[in-house]
Amino acid sequence: MTTSSAPGKVYLFGEHAVVYGEPAVPCAIQRRARVTVAARSDERVRVEAQELTLDGFAVTWGGDADDRPDVDVPAALVDAAMGYVEGAIEQAREAAGEPGAGFDVTIESEIPLGAGLGSSAAVVVAAIDAATRELGAPIEPEAVADRAYRVEHDVQDGEASRADTFCSAVGGAVRVQGEDCRRLGDVPNLPFVVGYDGGSGDTGALVAGVRARKEAYDFAADTIAAIGDVVRRGEQALEGGDVEEVGRLMDFNHGLLSALGVSARSLDAMVWAARDADALGAKLTGAGGGGCVVALDPTEQSRTALKYTPGCEDAFRAELDTEGVRVEE
Ligand code: MEV
Repeated sequence: MTTSSAPGKVYLFGEHAVVYGEPAVPCAIQRRARVTVAARSDERVRVEAQELTLDGFAVTWGGDADDRPDVDVPAALVDAAMGYVEGAIEQAREAAGEPGAGFDVTIESEIPLGAGLGSSAAVVVAAIDAATRELGAPIEPEAVADRAYRVEHDVQDGEASRADTFCSAVGGAVRVQGEDCRRLGDVPNLPFVVGYDGGSGDTGALVAGVRARKEAYDFAADTIAAIGDVVRRGEQALEGGDVEEVGRLMDFNHGLLSALGVSARSLDAMVWAARDADALGAKLTGAGGGGCVVALDPTEQSRTALKYTPGCEDAFRAELDTEGVRVEE
């Protein structure tokens, strides 16, 4: 039996635009998905997920049974989660050269599903790491990231960037532009506060919506390019340790994401609550449509304001996690 864990993340800058070759800067946070795998004697895969959303579920597939889960969570959410786990197991089998390996898989996650904190990337990264180790064929975090990206790419119909999976695999603050992925060296202390509306967005549909707007309107394409400019300025501010400028640029980034149609009333309400509480900056994080916002605030004010914002279900401080995927003893 092997357990690996991998962190979730917030986007400081650049989600959505990264899908079109602009740079993005996601940062790993100290909220993890843990995946335990145990090799089976047959080719089946049994997945048990606890606390992934409000309800857990269990499902077995493989062999001749066409098992689909009989559970009390939305089918689309379960299908997406299963797609990620199935893809991760396929990648581990391929990496280890054991196409018929079966597993019992247990997933526990502190990262809400589909809420913009990189839950699917963390599950896929941890699952590939654990399953390759269980088969006696561990691979480096960069190789885990690469294989996890292929899974996200397939599940999201070819419209995924390497940002989420690379960040979860290597940890820390990273910069991703196309194939070029690297960790950022010295970043200043970033006092993240996360607000969560209890909901989630459909990443595939949101990414497709941005593509449709980009194709319909030149100014939507310009908006994506403008996000790239914000990210480049943001990197300079990060390198210079200018956290106030980072905050101002986060505000700008949120406005541009809003223009692209991926914000939501609940996300805007939380962004404004944090700004009214004198956060240095605030924006949605991840695909949008619902889920989480991230604010920068060294004081307790934004977290308190978020807690009292109608529609905000949870508000917490998120520390940067400098560690990526790791095996748990
Ligand atoms: C989703 O967490 C981030 C997006 O940029 C999609 C991606 O990068 O794959 C919206």
